[in-house]
Amino acid sequence: MTSKTIPVITIDGPSGAGKGTIAQNVATALSFHILDSGSLYRLTALASQDDEIDLSDESAIAELALNLPVEFIPTDTGLQILLRDEDVTEAIRKEEIGMRASKIAALPKVRKSLLERQRSFSEEPGLVADGRDMGTTVFSDAPVKIFMTASAEERAERRYKQLKEKGINANIAALVKDLKSRDEQDANRAVSPLKPAEDAILLDTTEMSIEEVTQKVLDLAKQRLA
Ligand code: DC
Repeated sequence: MTSKTIPVITIDGPSGAGKGTIAQNVATALSFHILDSGSLYRLTALASQDDEIDLSDESAIAELALNLPVEFIPTDTGLQILLRDEDVTEAIRKEEIGMRASKIAALPKVRKSLLERQRSFSEEPGLVADGRDMGTTVFSDAPVKIFMTASAEERAERRYKQLKEKGINANIAALVKDLKSRDEQDANRAVSPLKPAEDAILLDTTEMSIEEVTQKVLDLAKQRLA
């Protein structure tokens, strides 16, 4: 309902397509709010792991998701994320947490728990929301919807560089395998699977630089929000 009056730009796509970086750039350029919806699934994954809740206990995980005590604190270097007052900004980015997030994201009750929380990020003057189902489910009436892809090899390469910059060792072949298995899991679940909304604009970024993609999304937003 809110996205009719408050402009929302949705950016969906598979893991590692660069959605987060582009969402951040576009939000900064337009002074819009930002929702990294994947972080909510990752936070639920981490909290449920800490609480030793089994993945088969859908109701317990959904309950946890509904009451997740998280805080997003803007800093000069991006958002700092607190879970139960503990800084988990780095901890939720681990590959194993991404995988657990993808598994719990297939649970319908968990998705339901996180729905209103995600919608509450839509505030004046506007929102850039990235994830898997922003355009199809969470903000289905958003005026600007992008579905961003890149080849698995290119996405793995980008992730490899990111990890290397952080001094973390990685193996490209293993990264390609992880990305593909998470894509498959996300695209084949019954509820809100990874897929473009019917009115989404498809953007293959395999051959594009971050600057080119940011500009392209800003141009599309300008046209559609005019
Ligand atoms: O975008 P990400 O890699 O941080 O997301 C982690 C997992 O969370 C992803 O594999 C699937 C799930 N997810 C989802 O199902 N729906 C979203 N809107 C965002 C993430």
